Amino acid sequence: MSKISLIAAVGRSGQIGMNGELPWYDSDDLRWFKMVTMGSILIVGSKTLETLPPLPGRAVVGWGREIDPEQMIVSLVDKNPDKIIYVAGGARTYQAFMPFVKRAHISRIDYDGPADTFMPQLWGEPDYADAVRFQAVS
Ligand SMILES: NC(=O)c1ccc[n+]([C@@H]2O[C@H](COP(=O)([O-])OP(=O)(O)OC[C@H]3O[C@@H](n4cnc5c(N)ncnc54)[C@H](OP(=O)(O)O)[C@@H]3O)[C@@H](O)[C@H]2O)c1
Repeated sequence: MSKISLIAAVGRSGQIGMNGELPWYDSDDLRWFKMVTMGSILIVGSKTLETLPPLPGRAVVGWGREIDPEQMIVSLVDKNPDKIIYVAGGARTYQAFMPFVKRAHISRIDYDGPADTFMPQLWGEPDYADAVRFQAVS
């Protein structure tokens, strides 16, 4: 399970979502997301899936509470041994897959406005922004 990564864009106070969408529009980050995830498999929660635009070049796999995260990952790795798998949100999905995530790509967005969905803590560290296994990308 060494290829499981997480990718998220997080506001200054941990914001990740608002009304089912991203709270901001950041074209640089969207370009970054495209570049990093191209050719990979994305695990996305069923709520996020409702508003996700088409993502050419990536296989998007929906997750809901009926699906056991570990079994899902084992099956995806088994069928796609050479692909990187990204857990791509939202909050419930990050939370459910956190035990299997080895690496996090976090874009820190300069946004301090409202949100209704927030990033869960990574690996139990008090502040994910300082987590040792955390890889800041912007
Ligand atoms: N900033 C970012 O990088 C980023 C990335 C992705 C998403 N987002 C944002 O995150 C928000 C969505 O996050 P989210 O956490 O609400 O949803 P989500 O992770 O996209 O999907 C959540 C799904 O989990 C299932 N679930 C599991 N336990 C549940 C429970 N106790 N109650 C209800 N549902 C449960 C439900 O699916 P079933 O009903 O099918 O079981 C639900 O649809 C959106 O605003 C989206 O734009 C942000």
